[in-house]
Amino acid sequence: MFTVMSEAKRKRVFSGIQPTGNIHIGNYLGAIRHWASSQVGFDNIFCIVDLHAITTSQDPRMLRTRIRQAATLLFAAGIDPRLSAVFVQSHVSAHAELAWILNCLIPMGWMQRMTQFKEKSQKQKERVLVGLFDYPALMAADILLYETDLVPVGEDQKQHLELTRDVAQRFNSTYGLTFKLPEPVIPRKGARIMGLDDPTKKMSKSGSRPGHAVYLLDSPEEIRSKIMGATTDSLREIHFDKGRPALHNLLVIYELFTGLRRAEIEARFKGKGYIDLKRDLAEVIIEGLRPVQQRYRELTMDAAYIDSLLVGGVSKVRPIAEKTLLIVKEKIGLR
Ligand code: AMP
Ligand code: TRP
Repeated sequence: MFTVMSEAKRKRVFSGIQPTGNIHIGNYLGAIRHWASSQVGFDNIFCIVDLHAITTSQDPRMLRTRIRQAATLLFAAGIDPRLSAVFVQSHVSAHAELAWILNCLIPMGWMQRMTQFKEKSQKQKERVLVGLFDYPALMAADILLYETDLVPVGEDQKQHLELTRDVAQRFNSTYGLTFKLPEPVIPRKGARIMGLDDPTKKMSKSGSRPGHAVYLLDSPEEIRSKIMGATTDSLREIHFDKGRPALHNLLVIYELFTGLRRAEIEARFKGKGYIDLKRDLAEVIIEGLRPVQQRYRELTMDAAYIDSLLVGGVSKVRPIAEKTLLIVKEKIGLR
């Protein structure tokens, strides 16, 4: 009786990650780590968003590899298939279908305000695709299909979550209560890890310079070389100061990997220089990633196992998505 009650009350968590580029410590500290650490007591769904990935050009062979790699990394980082469903977005056609329906409710003006689109389209100019513009509608569909309560994401996704709530409200007020309004869950620290080469830009998978990001699968040598080469300022004292963004970023990464308090970290580096901090930081990251990399290597030896987990994941979530889509179609008169 008790378990049935608590199951019924369990909140649903939904989040997604794009299988593009290499997954980096920004993704880990801002999102994946939290997904893994708060699975118990929630009903969790994590989606490899391959349809979002194709909003920028992808090599088909590479994309296929990266979808499986992203899934493997999630399990390696501690996502437990007994507690969480992991699946590939394009395996549930309801995502694309609901996105289309939402397109027909979202005013152009809302989409034109999306800063992620503005930033990305500035870089790509006329090559920018309609799909990239429409990205937030697909993301709203992802979330709304599953009666999601909580969406744990990094800071950069906050605006997309607001749009999701807005379109859900618009649907509800037009057609009657249908969608639950999801809440973003953004970590207090680490929600925006910055590039090692440029602390004014968030660490991203598309950062082209080799020293931009530490990837979860980087070797100890690569991690040392990237951290030693990270940008810093010309001041000396090591303490947490938002006005010194490069140093602040390194210290936040240190803080999150060690779990130490800020005062302890500052005491540890009192009278020391950047070289000491960087040397220590590299080792802290190497140690922090070691278990993830170890588990990743074990899991890649059994591709059939990962496939079976993805099949298990999709078979749990597909009925939920299809049920929601059917209700939506009935409400708007498509059925
Ligand atoms: P993406 O790489 O865009 O698929 O992002 C996957 C998750 O990682 C999302 O929840 C993002 O908000 C989060 N994320 C991406 N980049 C960063 C970053 N530099 N710092 C913190 N979180 C991030
Ligand atoms: N847009 C998210 C990102 O780039 C990925 C994503 C797609 C997502 N659909 C989602 C995140 C639904 C949370 C919920 O990080």
